[in-house]
Amino acid sequence: MDTADTPRPSEFWDQFYSERHRVWSGKPNASLVREISMVAPGRALDLGCGEGADALWLAARGWTVTAVDISAVALDRAAQHAEEAGVAQRITWLRRDLTEWTPEGEFDLISAEFLHSPIELPRELILRRASEAVAPGGLLFVVGHVAFPPWSRHGHDEAEQAQLPTAEELAVSLGLRADAWEVETSTSDGREVTGPEGQIAIMTDAVLKARRR
Ligand SMILES: C[S@@+](CC[C@H](N)C(=O)[O-])C[C@H]1O[C@@H](n2cnc3c(N)ncnc32)[C@H](O)[C@@H]1O
Repeated sequence: MDTADTPRPSEFWDQFYSERHRVWSGKPNASLVREISMVAPGRALDLGCGEGADALWLAARGWTVTAVDISAVALDRAAQHAEEAGVAQRITWLRRDLTEWTPEGEFDLISAEFLHSPIELPRELILRRASEAVAPGGLLFVVGHVAFPPWSRHGHDEAEQAQLPTAEELAVSLGLRADAWEVETSTSDGREVTGPEGQIAIMTDAVLKARRR
């Protein structure tokens, strides 16, 4: 894509969400449910919360959630879902560009689920910065693609795929030193997923759960 044609991230994502009434399933991410169900609720930060399914799930389990996304369209939708679910008072929605934003305060859980973008997004920098806001004893929880789905808008060239680390590679690139972090989960497993046109593919997710000592 020519730089002159590249939309600003906020425009890109607002357009992305405007194209459909609902983009994601409305269900929380399966890895979040599996890994966080047993964790006692506290203060959670959801990075790139999209339409808010994870934030709603956390709030319903007693977490106080700050949910951040760049898209006003997604956040409006998410806030409406939270009203309908009766958990709005537990969630603060923030429209921020994570490239420029630094979390304020400390969190017992910082979650970043599929924080990917077909346009510029310094994911590693954002996650590094976020890791500094995890409270002692708190969790950094990152789930991401190890390869993009065949139907995604992301480019499929080698450079872009190379930016997708396994959980182990991510822990190293984030500098999660063993004296400061205990890695509780580090997996890169396949799962069956259904695409927007009903296509089936096996996708590998990197799941990293690390606890700050
Ligand atoms: C692939 S979606 C994942 C949404 C959600 N976490 C989920 O698992 O369904 C990526 C999300 O990151 C958001 N995003 C992309 N770039 C961003 C940025 N620079 N700052 C904040 N949010 C951003 C997008 O608006 C989008 O909602």
